[in-house]
Amino acid sequence: MASEPTTSRPKAAATERGQWSGKLGFILAAAGSAIGLGNIWRFPFSVAEGGGGVFVLIYLFFVLAIGVPVILAELSIGRETRLNPVGALRKLMPGSWWPALGGLGVATGFAILAFYSVIAGWTIGYLYKSVTGEFNTAISASQSGEMFNQLTGDGGMVIFLTAVFMLLTILVVRGGINKGIERATKILMPALFILLVLLAVRAVTLPGGWAGVVYLFQPDFSELNAGVIMGALGQALFSLSLGMGAMITYGSYFPKDESIAAAGVSVAIFDTVIAVLAGLIIFPALFYADVELNTGPGLVFVTLPTIFNALPAGQFFAMSFYALLAIAALTSTISLMEVVVSYFIDERKWSREKAVWLIGSACFLLAIPSALANGASPFLSTFFGGPGDGLDFLSVQNTVWGTYSLSIGAFLICIFVGWKWGIPAALESLEAGGHRVPLRALWGFLVRYVCPIAVLVAFLYMVWPA
Ligand code: TRP
Repeated sequence: MASEPTTSRPKAAATERGQWSGKLGFILAAAGSAIGLGNIWRFPFSVAEGGGGVFVLIYLFFVLAIGVPVILAELSIGRETRLNPVGALRKLMPGSWWPALGGLGVATGFAILAFYSVIAGWTIGYLYKSVTGEFNTAISASQSGEMFNQLTGDGGMVIFLTAVFMLLTILVVRGGINKGIERATKILMPALFILLVLLAVRAVTLPGGWAGVVYLFQPDFSELNAGVIMGALGQALFSLSLGMGAMITYGSYFPKDESIAAAGVSVAIFDTVIAVLAGLIIFPALFYADVELNTGPGLVFVTLPTIFNALPAGQFFAMSFYALLAIAALTSTISLMEVVVSYFIDERKWSREKAVWLIGSACFLLAIPSALANGASPFLSTFFGGPGDGLDFLSVQNTVWGTYSLSIGAFLICIFVGWKWGIPAALESLEAGGHRVPLRALWGFLVRYVCPIAVLVAFLYMVWPA
């Protein structure tokens, strides 16, 4: 599929810019963007911060009520304009300040990439540990915690791993959209899915594992507060790669004659299934091994090594898991970088070559403080609200860009599509090629009213907690 020639497409300009080999190519690439550390690293630790089942319930609600409508809103803009977020909004609303929203998206993508690549670097470190057999003996929670602290406390090592990951991202994005991105996703996403199912079955059947399932699905409403709602909103957007124009950019490579709405909805379903599966691995394992719930960004890294030995061929599973996680992270960092790169190519007329190297290097530099924020630098490790027990720099970046900035972005995208550009025009773009969007009136209602109001309420509740 990936090598199918695109020259037969009628639009010469679109062909030069590149486009997905078809609907499947898009679904693979967009699912590759959505599925990543957000599902497997960020989701479990946000659930733990958000008090378990009640967070999961609100998260699922936000995926349906906000995530799906916003995916379609972003895709409609991208497909209509075939441009990066800034150029797209300028084309639809020339002479207005709306392109600044695209600019916020480009900046947010850059900032997310700068901490995401650090976690992706940890993943490579763990892949290495699994290859050398460090998990070969049964590991207690405290040993596992020790191992994590050792890795993240080694600043030089983490910076090196981050650099390796950034380089991989640069090399794939350099290849352009069809060659690099689609190819990477085609086999690996299904493999990741199968592996996660196996691990989840094992985790749930571990002694004490069921408590994790209860924790994940039984809401305890006494845990509910403004932070939980905001966190669930941020998680839904982050996990689906929304609120910064990644789906505008990916939609811009979508062939004109395929059904984009169905494709967008399938991506949301896959992404959510993977997040829930990750929860079904981490929380049972956590209760089994008695790992502390509040280990923050280290949660997944501390929890998982404790269960690999409870599996036959544990080392094989450990290696496969970290390899696939690294690749899932790569298909996500690709989309983050592609947003920034496409902006510099379309709007600043940079070559792709120049864009990937300059952006990749700058982003790497920005990643360094995050790389040092889990032990290597005491100052950065207790950056916010310290000294001693403040939040680390990486967690602050994660919340500021991954929750607040995406929420503001999603809010403004809804206002733009719902009230400025207009639902009828957006629907026309979504339905190009003759595919009617099901429940189109409901979609319009969600974009115009429900999403903006929900985001606004979440913010106000944060600012003035009841
Ligand atoms: N969604 C990805 C994940 O879950 C991360 C990601 C990629 C992202 N592109 C994005 C998040 C754009 C927000 C916006 O790992």
